[in-house]
Amino acid sequence: DSLHIFAPATVANVAAGFDILGFALNAPGDEITIRKTDTPGITIHNKTEFASMPLAPEKNTAGVALQAYLQHLGSEQGFEITFLKKIKPGSGIGSSAASSAAAVFGANELLGRPLERKDLVQFAMQGEKLASGSAHADNVAPALMGGFVLVRSYNPLDLVTIPVPENLYASVIHPQIELKTEDSRRVLRKQILLKDAVVQWGNTAGLIAGLFKGDYELIGRSLQDVIIEPIRSLLIPGFESIKTAALQAGALGCSISGSGPSIFTLSTSEATAQTVAKAMQQMCSQQGIESEIHVSPI
Ligand code: HSE
Repeated sequence: DSLHIFAPATVANVAAGFDILGFALNAPGDEITIRKTDTPGITIHNKTEFASMPLAPEKNTAGVALQAYLQHLGSEQGFEITFLKKIKPGSGIGSSAASSAAAVFGANELLGRPLERKDLVQFAMQGEKLASGSAHADNVAPALMGGFVLVRSYNPLDLVTIPVPENLYASVIHPQIELKTEDSRRVLRKQILLKDAVVQWGNTAGLIAGLFKGDYELIGRSLQDVIIEPIRSLLIPGFESIKTAALQAGALGCSISGSGPSIFTLSTSEATAQTVAKAMQQMCSQQGIESEIHVSPI
């Protein structure tokens, strides 16, 4: 009665789709072991060396997600979860989302799968709320459902999986600075100009159309964020030069991954994606900042 689960890192926003678009990477990902216990309650252990986490379930993102799930089912089942995180907190590739997704997914499997995967997203979102003050779904939905997911609406929650054309690779660079989602949400303006909104929803729709048509040029043109990136990029040292290096190395487009500091690009071949990742890393180290890179098919 125990399971070992992998939950992938995710890239949220995907340039213009703030809070409504995200996709899963192959790696890195968090690992958890979850098992049913004979007594009610959630017990959490953490084997991760680089990150501590609160172990009280009501203070732990995965614990909160699991509590919400069990409450919905009216279940008194107890669980013990052991975390081995591989995704660094504050990296911008869905660290808290992966843990929450893994916990609810694992419990749902052990209980005989009473709910479908997409119905688990609402509970994993409670973990995001605890982590960042906002129950956004653009990391947890792709972490649970895989691939590329659109959050068409939050109320009611309406999730749409988007097909991805062959030969689309993501390169992600994680400059080794920590940026909390809560902080990088606080700097955002609450009101935007209509003229910016027009550009933004043009790009959002363009990206979706490009993915459906397998039109790589259109995908590239649509990876443009005129609302969030200009503000958040100020929190990422060397962002503009890293982006320029990525585009020069052949990326279709480049923007901030989630709330940063990670930066993602899309490319049409694995070789280009590797070249792009290395070009970004080189530029990052010229700013005196260490980084980790990941290349993954989407
Ligand atoms: N959409 C969220 C944000 C993602 O940009 O704040 C956080 O990973």
